[in-house]
Amino acid sequence: MNKAFYFLFFLLPRIAQSAPNSPLYLSPPDIIIQVPSSQDATESSTATPTVFQDSPQPIPTQISDEVPFLLPVPPQSSSKFSNSPLVMAYYPDWAGSSFPPERIDFNRFDWIDFAFAIPNKDASLSWDDPDTSPALLSRLVRAAHAKGKKVKLSIGGWTGSQYFSSIVASDQTRRLFVQNILGLYNKFQLDGCDIDWEYPGNQGAGNNQVSPKDSANFLLFLQLLRRQLPYSAIITAAVTTLPFYGSNRQPMKDVSAFARVLDWVLLMNYDVWGASPNPGPNAPLFDNCNNSTQPDASAEAGFRAWTAAGFLPSQLVLGVPSYGYVSKSTATRLRTRQDNADADEGDNDNQKSQNVKLTYDGNQIQFRDLVKQGALTRKSDGTHGGSGGFTRYFDECSSTPWLRSASSRQIVTYDDTESLTMKAAYVKKVQMRGVNMFDVHGDTDGWDLVDSLRRGLA
Ligand SMILES: *[C@@H]1O[C@H](CO)[C@@H](O)[C@H](O)[C@H]1NC(C)=O
Ligand SMILES: *[C@@H]1O[C@H](CO)[C@@H](O)[C@H](O)[C@H]1NC(C)=O
Repeated sequence: MNKAFYFLFFLLPRIAQSAPNSPLYLSPPDIIIQVPSSQDATESSTATPTVFQDSPQPIPTQISDEVPFLLPVPPQSSSKFSNSPLVMAYYPDWAGSSFPPERIDFNRFDWIDFAFAIPNKDASLSWDDPDTSPALLSRLVRAAHAKGKKVKLSIGGWTGSQYFSSIVASDQTRRLFVQNILGLYNKFQLDGCDIDWEYPGNQGAGNNQVSPKDSANFLLFLQLLRRQLPYSAIITAAVTTLPFYGSNRQPMKDVSAFARVLDWVLLMNYDVWGASPNPGPNAPLFDNCNNSTQPDASAEAGFRAWTAAGFLPSQLVLGVPSYGYVSKSTATRLRTRQDNADADEGDNDNQKSQNVKLTYDGNQIQFRDLVKQGALTRKSDGTHGGSGGFTRYFDECSSTPWLRSASSRQIVTYDDTESLTMKAAYVKKVQMRGVNMFDVHGDTDGWDLVDSLRRGLA
């Protein structure tokens, strides 16, 4: 442990204590967690791939006697970043083979989140793909830093949220988890971390541990993480459009304690409806028709819910998709929606001799593949119209487009340059912190989607 570390955690708190408005985190003195040596921090290319800590190690017992840890300045009032909206995207490790990190145009992005590190039962972390992830993350950080841009490590995800509940449930495992995250933070020279627990107090993928105490324990964990990561580190969480679930299994009315330790939360405003014979919009911006059966699941509803529960607009980031869902369907309108669906004129000028039947994995498809496979064609004005037998409609109720092909009996609910510009304009209007696209390699080679976001924010 070096001197700077002692200075940071022993002297700064004393200084902060004397400041009249300094925040007080009223928790007991903390055990100091060992910081990995600086050699470790630079040897990311020789990283042991999988596990950061295979088994729980004895907790360091060095106690910082009388001084409680304090965060010198609350994140929301910090001047760590300018007020101009941030443009961000996730880089998923599975993009590695087709889309190397160096292909990201960092002139267009402020932050990239590397997805995902997966928490194990014992509070260690492992990778989706131990053979490739560590090297990809190192390369991503190198490429981003070369352009003065930042990288966070995203922890969890839809299939990686199985063990959060028990990890945050005890003091010992919370400390261990924080120690392991700090280890990765140092080792990969990260700029922050993104906790993507889907979801505290609420089942996600189906095999997660869930407890009524999840959100309370999550807060304890985040407070500890905030105290142990360097002050400059950004800590975020990916969340639903409703605030965290409390012990009564309802969204909490006051999450301001979370707002004091998180720099921002990302509203995962997508996957609202998946693939279905009776499909609905993937990522509604608004509930314009006032009759959605999921009125809480729009960007606007998320903004209202989180600000009402104690987050500042500048602590909210809108998550936007670069993918859509493909439904085997011949529906002529989106679910619970009016069919305002006038085909855009000239939208179906089929430039292929044959009708397209989309091929895709699972039930999602990337925007780039809609273009590549010919269901969308870029027009001279930069927008994308239906082609290959697909007609593009615009669902006025959700402000998102959808595609329909009678011949392939497929419907695609997705976002394009028009809807993303609208979303970004909304973010700008309500003064949210920025946008984050899932994910970076769903965009076209010409970056049509991210450029439409940038236009909306401008
Ligand atoms: C939906 O409700 C809002 C707010 O009450 C109202 O301004 C708007 O006109 C309504 N829209 C429709 C289509 O009913
Ligand atoms: C939703 O509202 C629209 C516009 O007012 C209306 O045309 C449509 O029938 C409504 N849908 C349902 C399911 O109520």
